[in-house]
Formats: sequence, structure tokens, C-alpha cells
Amino acid sequence: MFRILTAGESHGKGLVGMIEGFPSNVSIDTREINKDLGRRQKGYGRGGRMKIEQDKIDFLSGIRGGKTLGSPISFFIKNKDYENWEAYMNPEEVDEETRKVTQPRPGHADLTGALKYNFSDIRNVLERSSARETATRVAIGSIARQLAEIFNIEVVSHVTAIGKASLKKPVQDIEIIKNAEDSPVRCADKNMESAMIHCIDQAKEDGDSLGGVFEIHITGVPKGLGSYVQWDRKLDAKLTYSLMGIQAIKGVEIGYGFENAQKKGSKVHDEIFHDPHKGYHRRTNHAGGIEGGMSNGENIIIRCAMKPIPTLYKPLKTVDIKTKEPMLATIERSDTCAVPAASVVGEMVAITVILQEFLTKFHGDSLEEIVKKWKSCLSI
Ligand SMILES: Cc1cc2nc3c(=O)[nH]c(=O)nc-3n(C[C@H](O)[C@H](O)[C@H](O)COP(=O)(O)O)c2cc1C
Repeated sequence: MFRILTAGESHGKGLVGMIEGFPSNVSIDTREINKDLGRRQKGYGRGGRMKIEQDKIDFLSGIRGGKTLGSPISFFIKNKDYENWEAYMNPEEVDEETRKVTQPRPGHADLTGALKYNFSDIRNVLERSSARETATRVAIGSIARQLAEIFNIEVVSHVTAIGKASLKKPVQDIEIIKNAEDSPVRCADKNMESAMIHCIDQAKEDGDSLGGVFEIHITGVPKGLGSYVQWDRKLDAKLTYSLMGIQAIKGVEIGYGFENAQKKGSKVHDEIFHDPHKGYHRRTNHAGGIEGGMSNGENIIIRCAMKPIPTLYKPLKTVDIKTKEPMLATIERSDTCAVPAASVVGEMVAITVILQEFLTKFHGDSLEEIVKKWKSCLSI
């Protein structure tokens, strides 16, 4: 299994990512990674920052001539906005007063972060807690995806709700979900797309913000990733842990977890069938492709709930940490709704976990070794 680390502040020089334990001889297409970085930056309801940054990956190590070396992969993503922030974010010397933040925003890391790390300037917290960090996790996921695709594992996502505009029926047809790629809110249903856009416009006009729900579907996952033998080896536990690590994600369901909780067992559990062509298979997928902590060969379905963006243009009440006087929260340039962008981040985080588990099962130092192991298990 490979390990990952990210670093970088939102208005610092840039972001850094590191992957250790990735196999050798995997072809990596930088254009695909930049495309995924671009997908994260799109979406109706985003703020002005996205117009400034056009993220591009710059590999520092671990790749030579377009192929991985098996050594640690490290990369840099430049923050173009640093030019405007150098006086406040320079590692050597800064103007501490001009951009000082002392009015914590409810819903952010601001207050507790400043108390925990003993800062009088909340900027020291918000620079790192910002979701700008998710660009590194998208780049890592995009690298993971290029290896996963060799084994026919694919990931897609779509937005199923923004505020009160919510799809009425679950969609499991991957081809329909793929159409969400062309939607500004990543929703393939045109009527719902208009309703979502309307909700975002209304929230923006009110100086308010919105959250929502997105769904990730992963196809081609072989049976038996994860395990039932120990609680911390369960695939559902690993996916939810990592997805909860995305800023503002406050609920993760495997399959239709919460809806299933209201139904009888006979209406929930996916009956087992076998035929010579398909082998063991199911005709329904309420479980979302995971039973007993292991992938069961059906598509993996994960639903994530994102809370409304905490920075409000009509700010909420707070307390100044210097004077302890009641104040209104700081306004940093902000999105009104970032559910479409979060759905791209979710895709990339989920495929990273799936690839980690795939490599745990079919471990090898080189791509060739992994392919050999994978082929020997294909009939299971
Ligand atoms: C893709 C994405 C974009 C985000 N954009 C913003 C934003 O513009 N303004 C904001 O206040 N929060 C934004 N957030 C959410 C905050 O980063 C998050 O709520 C905050 O760091 C507190 O963390 P928590 O919600 O996980 O507790 C965004 C989150 C994601 C995933």
C-alpha cells in the first residue's frame, strides 16, 4: 500500500504532494492530471479564486521519461495568487498587521485552530485549513486512477442534491452519470440542473451559501478488496475515513445506507445468482458493492453530504479574539456552493483508497509483477 502526504498554504508559494510506495513502470500522462485539476476548479457557484488559479502539476521526483521509478513521487502545484500575497505569506518576513484575521468564522477551523496552536492571527490557521489543499489530493487521485484504469477500474461521480433541489430517484446507470461531466453543477438531469442553479443564484443573492450531496460510483473493482477479519481492514471503513477527510464532508454512506435503514431486510439485501458467463453476481445493488468489509464485485456506490460553505457574505456573529467584543465574522473570498468541485475531489480520494487496497491484495514492486498477480486471481 502506498502512503500519501500533502503540504502547502492557500496563498503560500504552492502546494506539495508526496506518494511513497507507488510501483515502477507505470506510464503517467501529465495532461490527464492537469485535466482533473481543471475539473476540480469548475462548477457553478464558485468564487473568484478559481479564475486566478489554473492548476498545473510540476513533478519533482519519482518519474522519468513519463514512467514511475518506484521511488517517492513528489510534485508541486504553484499558487499563482502568491504574487498578490507575497508581502503577507513570505516564509522569511511578513507584514503581520495588514491581512491579520481576528474574527473567526463559524463553521471553520478558525477559532479552535487559533486556540490550539496559540496564534493571535487566524490567517495562520485558515491558510492551511482551506480546501485549496484538495488540489493535491486530486493530483494524487489522478495518478492513482491512471494505474487503476490498467485493471479496468473506473470512477465517476455526480451531484444528486444542492440545497433543497434533490434527485428523486437513485441513478445507477454509469452512462447517464457520465453525462454529468458536461453539467455546470455535475447533474445529468436537466430539470434538476436548472433547479440547482436557481438555488445557488438565490443563495448568492442572499449573501448565503449551500451544501448538498454527491455520489461516487466505481466500476470494475475485483471481489475481495478489504477484509472482514479485522475492523480496521474493512473497505467501507477505509473509504469513509478518507472521504470524511475532505473539507466540509459531514456524512458518508455506502450504498443507500440511510434509506436502507428504513426498509425491511427482504427489500435491501442483494440476492446472489450464478451463471457461467457472469459468475457470481447480483441483480440489485442496494449494498453499494461492499459486504462484510469487502468489495463483492458489484459497482461501489458512495454518497457524501457536504455542509453549506461556512464563509458567508452576510456574515454570522462571532467574537473578536483580541478584544473579546461581539463582531461579524471575517469575509475571505469564497464560493457560494462547491458541491460540484467536492464531487471531483471525492472521486479522486475514493479511487486512491481503492488503488491502495488493490495494491495491498496484488502487491508488486513493478507494474509487471502486479499484472501477473492480478491475472492469476481473475477467475475468483
Ligand atoms: C472543493 C471545496 C471548496 C470549498 N470552498 C470553500 C470556500 O470557498 N469558502 C469556505 O468558507 N469554505 C469552503 N470549503 C469548505 C471549508 O474548507 C471547510 O468547511 C472548512 O475548512 C472547515 O472544515 P470542516 O467543514 O471539515 O469542519 C470548501 C470545501 C471544498 C471541499
